[in-house]
Formats: sequence, structure tokens, C-alpha cells
Amino acid sequence: MLLLQPIVRGPWVLQRTPRLAAVACGSHPRACVGWTPPRTHGTWSAGGSSRRWKVTAVGALLGLGAGLAYGDHRRQAEEADPKAAARPQAPYPVFTRQEVGRHRSPAERVWVTYGGEVFDITDFVELHPGGPSKILLAAGGALEPFWAMYAVHSQGHVLEILREYKVGELSPEEQSQPAQGDPYAGDPPRHPALKVNSLKPFNAEPPAELLSENYLTPSPLFFKRNHLPVPAVDPATYRLEVEGPGGRTLTLSLPELKSRFPKHEVTATLQCAGNRRSEMNSVRPVKGLEWGIAAISTARWGGARLRDVLTQAGYGEAEEEAGERHVCFEGLDKDLSGAAYGASIPYGKAMGPGGDVLLAYEMNGEELPRDHGYPLRVVVPGVVGARNVKWLGRVSVSREESPSHWQQNDYKGFSPSVDWATVDYTTAPAIQELPIQSAITDPPPGATVPPTEITVKGYAWSGGGRGVVRVDVSLDGGRTWHVAEMAGEEQPLGRAWAWRLWQLTAPVPPGSSALDIVCKAVDDSYNVQPDTVEPIWNLRGVLSNAWHRVRVSVAQD
Ligand code: MTE
Repeated sequence: MLLLQPIVRGPWVLQRTPRLAAVACGSHPRACVGWTPPRTHGTWSAGGSSRRWKVTAVGALLGLGAGLAYGDHRRQAEEADPKAAARPQAPYPVFTRQEVGRHRSPAERVWVTYGGEVFDITDFVELHPGGPSKILLAAGGALEPFWAMYAVHSQGHVLEILREYKVGELSPEEQSQPAQGDPYAGDPPRHPALKVNSLKPFNAEPPAELLSENYLTPSPLFFKRNHLPVPAVDPATYRLEVEGPGGRTLTLSLPELKSRFPKHEVTATLQCAGNRRSEMNSVRPVKGLEWGIAAISTARWGGARLRDVLTQAGYGEAEEEAGERHVCFEGLDKDLSGAAYGASIPYGKAMGPGGDVLLAYEMNGEELPRDHGYPLRVVVPGVVGARNVKWLGRVSVSREESPSHWQQNDYKGFSPSVDWATVDYTTAPAIQELPIQSAITDPPPGATVPPTEITVKGYAWSGGGRGVVRVDVSLDGGRTWHVAEMAGEEQPLGRAWAWRLWQLTAPVPPGSSALDIVCKAVDDSYNVQPDTVEPIWNLRGVLSNAWHRVRVSVAQD
């Protein structure tokens, strides 16, 4: 999918006005049925400015900050094309919903309505940050149900961008929309201490200082990463479907899962691929939620082993020997097209005796909370959070990875040289095991610390079951180092699924007015974190694991 591929350009006003004038609308605006929209409206001017506009529009849709604000986009566009400022706003032709409904594909132009207005968004389809396929779901109809689902759109500047594409108005008698239910109305209550990155869908992380207070993160504070509304699942009617070899399906109720398979418990850290994305974003804008350092948490998970369930369904070593296989998971959370959240993991990880992959119904000794996948989720220790599918509905084994957008496109890493114009998702593997990671949770950036002695706290973790063997901490930006003390459970070699919390107490160098605190961890394969973000920057802002740096002031006596 090319977000910034070249698009047809043309003089918006010059084509639009004569066409309107040429159509004999008469006094009744409905006579405009035969009006053909300009095929080139909505973009301006030549090369560089058009591209700048597109980047800006995408940035604005993502709320990437003041540098990419809509005001800049408007100013740049107008500088590039002075006529843009003089575009006529009215009168617009009037359309019925049925007429709008005839514009469902780029070939017939893509029209949508919002409130009482009609927009031709054909030229925006390829620019849509969520991908063309998602925006095309709304083609020919109203945007409201989609914006209710993906509430990131409910921002003034998104509406302003939309208005650039206005081509008409709905006939007055059709303007009222049936009241939209809020698809998120059934989401569970959440802890007020969470720092919310997006409300609908709900994405939040705990305050970093709280993260290192507990080896097991209390469930209410565990980071939450949802792509859709939390589904309401009735435990009485809930069934897990496991597709066996030859298409036979094993159907399991919750009591069956609990009684027919031994309960297994694992302490495992989950980390989102986008943890620490904001640091990447500050180097160069990336696309995604602005996670700080706390899109990572640890819990004690309890449930049935996935390998036991797959064995019961009829799978065994034969499948592994028969070549590459993947275990695919589907959630019960579905988007408006009916597509479920999905992901997959290699068959060997699912079936290997040391893989410890769980179909978990317990978190920290209690029933799984709704935000974390009630009544059943996959826990894939050592593997990126995205593969730990919540609200699990279906498991299958396939020669192909999950066809889900989140496996095929999202959650992949690319070279810093790849941008939205050149990205080819097929060239990168889906992220599975995550790299070595550590961060400073206390003191927070900008704090004032005592002049005598400082205590620094943080976490360290590596993917793939690789244990953390050391955390180095510097108080002078990386010139000299101390070795931190690590707390937390010693874990078996190759199955170190949980983080280590660490702490360093060291004297403050006399005469310091500020400290540049840095941490970096080393895992048992001697992998270390890169010292800066720039060389690992990628357009999606994933795998952000450079040395973590916190600057603090020293209190003066
Ligand atoms: N599973 C479903 N069904 N839907 C989702 O949106 N988000 C994934 C994963 N599993 C997701 C999902 C992502 S990207 C992450 S990081 C983890 O769940 C987050 O798990 P948590 O919310 O329990 O912390």
C-alpha cells in the first residue's frame, strides 16, 4: 500500500466552477443529479508542495503535533497555489443518499457523507493512514459509523481536511442520520492512574514510576493495547474453535478448557512493538500511538498449554516435519467489515515443549480482566505483544501466516531509508521475538535529585526467552558506567520470559548541576541496545530500544 504515491493533480477551482455552471441545475438543486465531479480536485500545485501537503495531511490525521498541524498544511498549500485561498464554498449541488451510494470505488469516484455534506475523497484514499481498504469500507455512505469506531478521527483538523474534498450537500430531507450508538459504550471501566494514549480504541500505559514498584504489574495498571471495542463475551455460551487436521473442528467451552487440560502457569512480560515510539517520533515523525516507556508490563498467567490443545485437536510432530507451518489466532473483536483482529506464530513455538505458549484464562491469580482478553487469550512468552491475541475465538494451523492486516502489514520493521512512498510490506518479516530492551522508570525526566546520592530504577527484558545478564547505568551521558543491581526471579536458560527490575544507588559527582542518566542492558546472547535512535528509526516507530536517557537537575545546597 502506497500512502504517498503520486496522485493526479489539477486546478481544482478552474475545472470545478465551469462544470457546475455548465450543468443546467435550474432553480431546483436536485436537477444536479447528472453533475459529474471534477476528476482532479483536492490536490494542488506541483511536485514538492503537493508531496508536502500529503505528508502534512497524514500527519495531521495522526495528530503528530504542531509541526504537522493543519494550519501549516493550509499555509503551504496556499503559498504553492494562491488560487487555493479563493476557492468558492457555495452553492454546492445537492445529492440524495442513493446518488452518493453510486460512488463506491475509485473507478466511479469514492464519495462519502458526513453530517449533511458530500465529499469526493477519491484522491485521499491512497493517503489514508489506516490504509485504502479501511477507508473504502465507507465508500458510498456515511462516515459517522466508522468515525465512531475509530475515534481518532474525531478531531477538528481531520474534519478540516475532509472539507477540502467537499463536492456537495445532502438533500435536506435526508440530512438526519439515524442516531449512532457508541461502539465503545460497553468498554470496561479503567484505572484513573493510566496515561491514556487513545480513548477509543482504548490504549494506555501506567505512569513509568509505578511500573518498577511491582515485579508483577497489578492488572489494572498493566498497559492496555486495543485496536477495537472490547467485545462483550458471555462465558456461558463462549466456545473456542480449534480447527484440526483435515478441517475437523474441536469446540471447547470454558469449563472444558479448564477441566480437560492441566493448568500451567507462566510469569511473562508483554511488550508492545511500539513501546518507546515517542523517542523515535522525536527524531523524525513516525506513524502510530505515542507510547512512552511503559507499553510493557509483567503478569503471572494461568491457563491451558496451547500444545496440549493442539495435540488434542490432532496435531503432532508430523506437521512440523512437513515444512513451515503457522498457528493462526483470531480474536472476537471485529471491525466494521467483520474482519477479526488476528495474528500467528510459528508452529515450532506453539508446539515446542519449552515454548510455554498458553491459552490463558487467568492473570495474576484472577479471572482475565476484560481489557486483557476475557475470557481467553493467547500468551506467547518472549514474543511481541501483537501475537498475544485477546478474546480468542479461533485457532487454526496453516502453511501461511495469519492473513490479518496486523500480521501482514503492521508490526514489521524496516530500514530508516524506507518511507511511506517506498514501503513494501512483503519485504519484511512479521516481528516475533523482540530485541533487548531497558528503560529508566525513576527518576522521571526533568526531576531534581539530591546533590549527594541518587537512586535510579528501571526494567530490562529481552525477547525469545533470553535472560538479562547485566544492566549498565551511566550518570554522565555514557562516559563512565556503573553496574546496576537486579531484582526478580532467576529464570531457566532459554525460558527467561519475564523482565528484571534493577536499581542503582550511586554518589552524585560533586559540583554537578545536571545528570545525563543512561541505561543499557545486555542479554545472555550478549545482545546490547544501540546507543542512539537514528540508525534504528523506522516509519512505523516499532522496535525502539536505543539506550534510554533521562536528564535531571541536581539540587544545589
Ligand atoms: N488481541 C486482540 N484480539 N485485539 C487487539 O487489539 N492487541 C494486541 C494484542 N492482542 C490486540 C490483541 C497488541 S498490539 C498488544 S501489544 C497486546 O495485545 C496488548 O495486550 P494487553 O492489552 O493485554 O496489554
